[in-house]
Amino acid sequence: MDNSFYITTPIYYVNDVPHIGHAYTTCAADVLARYYRLRGYRVLFSTGTDEHGQKIEKAAWDLGISPQELVDKMVVRFQDLWEKMNISYDEFIRTTDPRHIKVVQDFFRLLDERGYIYLGDYEGWYCVPCETFWPESQLDERLACPDCGRPLEKLKEESYFFALSRFQEPLLQYLESHPDFIMPESRYREIESFIRRGLKDQSISRVGLEWGIPVPSHPRHTLYVWFDALINYLTAAGWGSSPDKFSTFWPSTYHLVGKDILRFHAVLWPGMLMAASLPLPQRIFAHGWWTVEGEKMSKSRGNVVDPYLMIDRYGVDRFRYFLMREVSFGLDGDFSEKALVERSNADLSDNFGNFVHRTLGMVWRYKKGVARKPSPYQDEEWEKLLEEVKEGFHYHMERFAFSQALEQVWRLVHFANRYIEREAPWKLHKEGKEKELEDLLYRLLDNARLLSFFLYPFMPDTALRLRELLGLSPNLEGENWGEALQWSLGPEVYSVREAQPLFPRIVE
Ligand code: MSP
Repeated sequence: MDNSFYITTPIYYVNDVPHIGHAYTTCAADVLARYYRLRGYRVLFSTGTDEHGQKIEKAAWDLGISPQELVDKMVVRFQDLWEKMNISYDEFIRTTDPRHIKVVQDFFRLLDERGYIYLGDYEGWYCVPCETFWPESQLDERLACPDCGRPLEKLKEESYFFALSRFQEPLLQYLESHPDFIMPESRYREIESFIRRGLKDQSISRVGLEWGIPVPSHPRHTLYVWFDALINYLTAAGWGSSPDKFSTFWPSTYHLVGKDILRFHAVLWPGMLMAASLPLPQRIFAHGWWTVEGEKMSKSRGNVVDPYLMIDRYGVDRFRYFLMREVSFGLDGDFSEKALVERSNADLSDNFGNFVHRTLGMVWRYKKGVARKPSPYQDEEWEKLLEEVKEGFHYHMERFAFSQALEQVWRLVHFANRYIEREAPWKLHKEGKEKELEDLLYRLLDNARLLSFFLYPFMPDTALRLRELLGLSPNLEGENWGEALQWSLGPEVYSVREAQPLFPRIVE
């Protein structure tokens, strides 16, 4: 269990058009999954789609097709986007999949047998588009949905309840003994004070809504979408179907979510798990929200950022890099194409791309594309920097501080560019110092090799392309990270490909 990780994204509402918010969480999860795989961990990475609920039922009726037909059409938009974005998920959970339905019903039965479920009456203000009941304490006299602003409907109906209130104290105790359970820390405090204010039992079924998972013994009731959706994390991990898989990956689990859905993940979900006597996930990380050119992103404003368009315009790695580098994971950020172009021209074209291009160019110009390993092989200054970068990189990656991890990597890029200026290979060539020149070029190439490892989680295509240019194997995940990330372990000879720019500057 020590060397395995289970990394999840939320499962997205299948009727949403995929936008930058979905791309963001999924990209971050992919970066983590690739990072841990590279370090030799066994990784299970899951994502998927949330396919039940009233909105979908209504939309299908409007189109005159069945909800299943509708979701089968819509799910492709997410699956295609993940392919385009190089998302290396292992499991894609659709909540309409029979294997998930079985898990949800088994889980309901288990909680019922353990005495945490009862039948009662639910009365409340309900937002149909958001599929959420709102407590009166959160409403003002307009009785509008606090999230979307639309009018709420008063609903009273028979409902099954989950006895969440019984977990108030256990949850608080758990938080106290697990300070890293919810990150960043500000979110931890927010959840703690929410729980302290008191937990109510949670209504978990609806009557009269057909498009949902039926309560096993009472199929007139269908299960509340969040109860159904959260359980996807167990389905993907093989709970009840693959005991080995489950014990490998649970509970070394990282849930990545946006701050808007943290409460479901950090209160209801742990309560459900405690009721089932299952251990809680290792960490829940809530990231911030993207605004667009300073405004909230919304369909009505017409400013929703289409990830497909961004990838077509700028390429997948510029897009991935920008998402991970531009804002600290956990904080809110602002998206603009101008910022994307500036960031990628500066970091990717002028710094990183330029370093690689110059280096390969010189290896061809002076050495016909070949550089042999220097002997003795030493460069204390560079080696010391590499040690610092490695340490900083791991430190930040383990805390999901992706932007800071990349900053560490760029120390190597900047150093190499300065090194070229300082050591002036063209002078060495002019002075006929061919051995020194070859040693220097080898070091630069080896720096590029090291960069291919650090960059792989963020920009897999670029990292592999870089390795191809360096004449190295593209099979990075088979490499031993610890060994490969050392100066002395580059190949005996680099025989490189002709230089081609990895990131041509974007001219607006
Ligand atoms: N179906 C639920 C999740 C169930 S998980 C058991 C859901 N789906 S969603 O399609 O609305 O996707 C929500 C995810 O996208 C959240 O993590 C949310 O924070 C993220 N984002 C939606 N808009 C966003 C931004 N503008 N910026 C960043 N992320 C945002 O909720």
